Formats: sequence, structure tokens, C-alpha cells
Amino acid sequence: MNQRRRNKIDEIVNYLKRKAVQDPASASAIAENITFFNNTYSLHSLYKWLFTNAPSIKAENLKELTDIDSASPYFSELITTLAATEKKFFPGLVRPMVKKITQLIRDKNYSVIISIGAGAMEVEKQVIKKLIRLGNQKPVIFIGIDKSDISRKLAKENLSASPDTLIIERNLLDEVRLEEINKGTSSLYTVVLCNNDIFSLDKYFTGTSFDLAYNCFFKHHFTPEEARHIDQMLSRHSKEVIDYDGVKNRFNTFVQPLFVWNNPVLLSGTVFSNLRYKTIKELKVQNNDEKITIHRVQGTYLKEITAPVVLGSSKI
Ligand SMILES: C[S@@+](CC[C@H](N)C(=O)[O-])C[C@H]1O[C@@H](n2cnc3c(N)ncnc32)[C@H](O)[C@@H]1O
Repeated sequence: MNQRRRNKIDEIVNYLKRKAVQDPASASAIAENITFFNNTYSLHSLYKWLFTNAPSIKAENLKELTDIDSASPYFSELITTLAATEKKFFPGLVRPMVKKITQLIRDKNYSVIISIGAGAMEVEKQVIKKLIRLGNQKPVIFIGIDKSDISRKLAKENLSASPDTLIIERNLLDEVRLEEINKGTSSLYTVVLCNNDIFSLDKYFTGTSFDLAYNCFFKHHFTPEEARHIDQMLSRHSKEVIDYDGVKNRFNTFVQPLFVWNNPVLLSGTVFSNLRYKTIKELKVQNNDEKITIHRVQGTYLKEITAPVVLGSSKI
């Protein structure tokens, strides 16, 4: 086996063993991760783990390497490699999301768009590129909320070369600051990076401040109650909400790991995300104001939620 890969797995296992001593509350999730990494030295043992261990792991212990520790030394690597994967033409991991956002900007004149858990903002980068290609002349503000300083730094780097794009950093964004940005910017594309706590959005925004709120490869990090809370909260502040994430199925669980085999950090992210995703059947238990489209090539779903009309709401 590739010696670099073997060394990386050894390093991660040692890191997790130290973490288990420092953080006894996460001991069970860490133990599952150690077992996982110990089984990633060969494909045969990974598949054995996927068939035998993985199905019996309790939901609360299905944690990605970077979920265990928010200051994980592997976080930057995960976000960078995820963005790099999203850039690849095949399988066009975020293409359905990019297409949908571009379509809404063009067809419905949407101009204030917020992404929660924005990461390196590769989706926005591709939307801007597409809008430029289509000759768009309407100003658009993209807001990226992410609690991680590393993610916001990576977003800034990723978007720095995008044409006609102004990047603004604000720790906390609220209605007043968003209005100031909206009135003050003369750039065709404005990207606002901020770190609001997503569960306190109601504190900073009262009415319908956004045309579109979306999350991408984000929801599976949360419990079903938290995920519902996020949907409801976003629906209070946005005309439309889109949820884009992976689907749990055999292909994703057993074939996707092969594509990221050489990168143990991304392998952990891929395998544990797949174990947490919902099946199509689970996703289709939906409300009337939701529409779900499955994207088989990408192994994802795109859920559109049309926000109920709230009387007295106003868009900035
Ligand atoms: C898997 S990444 C997805 C990034 C991006 N949406 C993409 O598709 O490339 C999840 C991101 O959500 C952020 N995140 C996780 N929990 C969060 C929270 N409670 N509030 C804000 N951001 C959060 C993480 O910092 C990370 O950057």
C-alpha cells in the first residue's frame, strides 16, 4: 500500500487516541472512528467494516473526524478537498444546485441569497461564473454564513479571483447591516462572509430578508429536530429554501469510497456522511410545500421548500 496513505492513517489514529483521553464525553464516537480508520488500510477490511460494523453504529456515534473536534487539524483539508471535488466536471457534485440558483436568479430576479454552512463557497463561485457567461447584468448579493474561521478564509481565497466580485467580511450580519451593504455596494456580485450562529437567525432578522436561503452538504450534520428547526427558521426569513445533500443508497455507500480512497480524511467524511444520509423513502415523507428531485449521478437530492407567506414581512 501507498506509504504516504499508511502514514496518514497512523497519524489520524494516534490523534484520535489522544483525543479520547482529552474528551471522554466523545469516547464512543471516537472509538467508532478509530475502528473505522484501523479498517481503512485495505479495501477488503473497509468493505468488511461497512457490512458488519457500520450498520450497528448508533446514530449519535456516527461522527465525521471533523465533527468530533471543531478545531480539528484535519478540518482545512476536508473543506479544501471537498471544494476540489465540487470543481470536478464529473460527477458535477454541485451542478444541480448551481443550475437551480442560476435559474432562480434569472427567472425570479432573486438578488439576495444566503448559504448556511457555506464552506469554501464553491457553489457561489460556479454560479457567478455561469451568470457571467450568460451575460447577467443584475447585481446579486451572496451571503455565506459559516462558524468556522478556516472555512471563511478558504471562501475568501476561493472567490478572490472571481471577476466583478466584492468580498465583504462581517462578524455578525443583521438586517440593518445587510441593508447598508445592499445600498452601498456597486459591485455586480457582492459576497458577504459572516459567522452568525445559524440557530439565532431570528435574533438578527425579523422579516423576509432573503430571496433564497440554501444549504449544501450541511443538513446531515444535524439531528432530525435540529434539521427541522433550520428549515422552519430559514422559511421565516426567505421566500424560498433549498436543501441539497446526499442520499443514502448502496451505490453511494459502497462505490463512493473508491473515488476518495487516497485521501483518508475525505474518505472518513464520505463514509460517515453516507451512513447519516436519508434514504429516498425517508426523504419522500414530505409536506405539500416541498418538492424533491433526486440526482442519481451526483448521489444527491434537491429539496425546494416554498416559504408560507408571512403577513407584514418585508424584503430588504
Ligand atoms: C461539509 S461543509 C459544506 C460546505 C459547503 N456548503 C460545500 O458544499 O462545500 C459544512 C460546513 O458547515 C459549517 N458548519 C457546521 N455547523 C455549523 C453551524 N452550526 N453554523 C454555521 N456553520 C456550520 C462547517 O464549518 C463547514 O464549513
